[in-house]
Amino acid sequence: MAFFIKASFSILLLVLFSFAFHVIADDNPTPSLVVNAQFGRKIPETFFGIFFEEINHAGAGGLWAELVDNAGFEAGGSQIPSNIFPWSIIGDESTIRVTTERSSPFPRNKIAARLDIMKNSLVGVGLSNPGFWGMNVQKGKKYKVTFYARSPKPVDLKIAFVGANGKELASANIRLHLPNWKKIQLVLKAKASDFNSSLQITTTKQGTLWLDQISALPLDTHKGHGFRKDLFQMVADLKPRFLRFPGGCYVEGDWLRNAFRWKDTIGPREKRPGHFNDVWGYWTDDGFGYLEFLQLAEDLKTLPVWVFNNGISHHDQVNTSNIGPFVQEALDGIEFARGPVTSKWGKLRAKYGHPKPFDLRYVAIGNEDCGKDNYLGNYLKFYNAIKHHYPDIKMITNCDATESPLDMPADFYDYHKYTSSHDIFSLHDKFDYQNRTGAKAFVSEYAVWKDDARNGTLLSALGEAGFLMGLEKNSDLVEMVSYAPLFVNANDKRWTPDAIVFDSHRSYGIPSYWLQQLFTTSSGATYLDSKLEAPSTLIATAIRWEDQETKKSYLRIKVVNFHDNSTRFNITINGLDDDVDFSGATKTLLTSGSVWDENSFDKPRKIVPVQSPLDDPSTEMLVTLPANSVTAFDLPLCFRSLLLSSATTSPGRAAALLSAFDSTAAPSDQSLFLLWLRLTFLHRIRTDSQRATSSV
Ligand code: AHR
Repeated sequence: MAFFIKASFSILLLVLFSFAFHVIADDNPTPSLVVNAQFGRKIPETFFGIFFEEINHAGAGGLWAELVDNAGFEAGGSQIPSNIFPWSIIGDESTIRVTTERSSPFPRNKIAARLDIMKNSLVGVGLSNPGFWGMNVQKGKKYKVTFYARSPKPVDLKIAFVGANGKELASANIRLHLPNWKKIQLVLKAKASDFNSSLQITTTKQGTLWLDQISALPLDTHKGHGFRKDLFQMVADLKPRFLRFPGGCYVEGDWLRNAFRWKDTIGPREKRPGHFNDVWGYWTDDGFGYLEFLQLAEDLKTLPVWVFNNGISHHDQVNTSNIGPFVQEALDGIEFARGPVTSKWGKLRAKYGHPKPFDLRYVAIGNEDCGKDNYLGNYLKFYNAIKHHYPDIKMITNCDATESPLDMPADFYDYHKYTSSHDIFSLHDKFDYQNRTGAKAFVSEYAVWKDDARNGTLLSALGEAGFLMGLEKNSDLVEMVSYAPLFVNANDKRWTPDAIVFDSHRSYGIPSYWLQQLFTTSSGATYLDSKLEAPSTLIATAIRWEDQETKKSYLRIKVVNFHDNSTRFNITINGLDDDVDFSGATKTLLTSGSVWDENSFDKPRKIVPVQSPLDDPSTEMLVTLPANSVTAFDLPLCFRSLLLSSATTSPGRAAALLSAFDSTAAPSDQSLFLLWLRLTFLHRIRTDSQRATSSV
């Protein structure tokens, strides 16, 4: 009897437990995504891009490979005597006196350095420039040193790169006798390396010497165009479809007199006046000027998006009645970029080495100025003039149409968001409810910042992943997206976090940089219809994308699990054959032990996407998503799957696929295709004959 009571009690417990489990299981069903591979819409080709701002020494002392800081001694201002920082004097008061004079041969850069050398000496005296926190001079590499000099009496000069320990890395001795200013150019080849070296110009002879516009450029830059190779590559790896430049606040200036003005940044480097980047607190020689930005876009095979000053800075404004010259400056800038060589400004572009017009299709009228007194008035003047002369150019307003309807014509409205990780994650549906007519959205600056971000945490990337998936979903409205800021020189953190951190010789990407790499495939991809059933901490999207190099197509499912627990996740893909062959499928995981983890110079790859083969890929998959992670599942689409999946979403593409196979470009795929055609044909004959038999 006791046995029976015990047994029935156990059965009761079991029933209760399974009932309870059932209830719990029902409350927490396994999150799932059902993808319809046959329905979707195209994401704009321009979707994912970059925003370059001259902030944190991103250009001067960063991507722009010039090694000398303050080449023309102008940084101390136009008054004399002026500060020659960061130049320092080699020698003491008894041997050398260095002063600034307004005696330069360049009318827009009047300051030059005068060196009075009091006596002959065995050890040279002169000037030293440390560059931007040390020059990276590498053994075997060549450096072009250019400067202007005047010396009424003969003088012996030594030009040398010197390591932090005083060791000479490269040098040349020259004898000059120059009653008038003359350009001197030489190439130094380094016989040793030091990433913390300086450029020194010294003499052992008594006399007076004037120096100006001293430059040292590595010959080994991207295509010889002056871009530091490692940093260029990091940007290129983001496969940006546009380059917004030259900045946000940088374009405005704290004061108009310090704003970036394109005409001051073209032509021979030594003739450019340079300017004080007052918002971000440093001098720029403007070697990285308007033409170099356009060149950068071309080298990245991307579309330039030029942000110009609209007569408004942080603290002063030009009245709309006086804005004419600014409008003309913008029109001239457009002509410089894309006018024919027969035009005034196109001719100048050709003279400076680029006859071919650049593909400038987008301009932004100012930055973050909406609502300021003269914004609307000024905007309309720019808009109308540009529309008149360049009807095809797309114009971007600073006014955010998600806040209130636009009271101006525009092709795009700018949207900027810097916030916490949870807030940005929750903004994944921000654009779900926005007006679909009129201007498109350009999310030109977004990032998690402050407490959650520190110097670039995994936590930030997780929050941003949710936001970006929301933008993908809304890419019928949001046509362009870029993270901000792009770069920081670790020695001058004016703004943090930044996607790429570097110093004179090293660089690494923060998790947000690597997250962007998971989204670059979205530009021009097909956003596939899908249904997500999941808690609010999990977001997923599906796209079909094509690898531009291999021309292979993939179905990519991205999932962010913004939660401290791992979870199981069901993926169902409809619209493909059940027996579809997904061999070669991969999963790419971005995660780390703690959401507070960061990359660093010591551990630059602590948090990077890690790719591995995907076990048992199929149209019905149960996968595990680690806690606090972003995962991208890539399922290769064989030709037939691709055809099936394209037939509805893009019949044009399906037709193109078929016609492409008329050519002999891909014989192996072609034979697969022929086999498939044959099988389909046989199958149809069989079905038809079966139908015929059954109807008899
Ligand atoms: O990205 C840093 C700054 O943030 C930009 O200059 C400005 O547009 C925004 O306020």
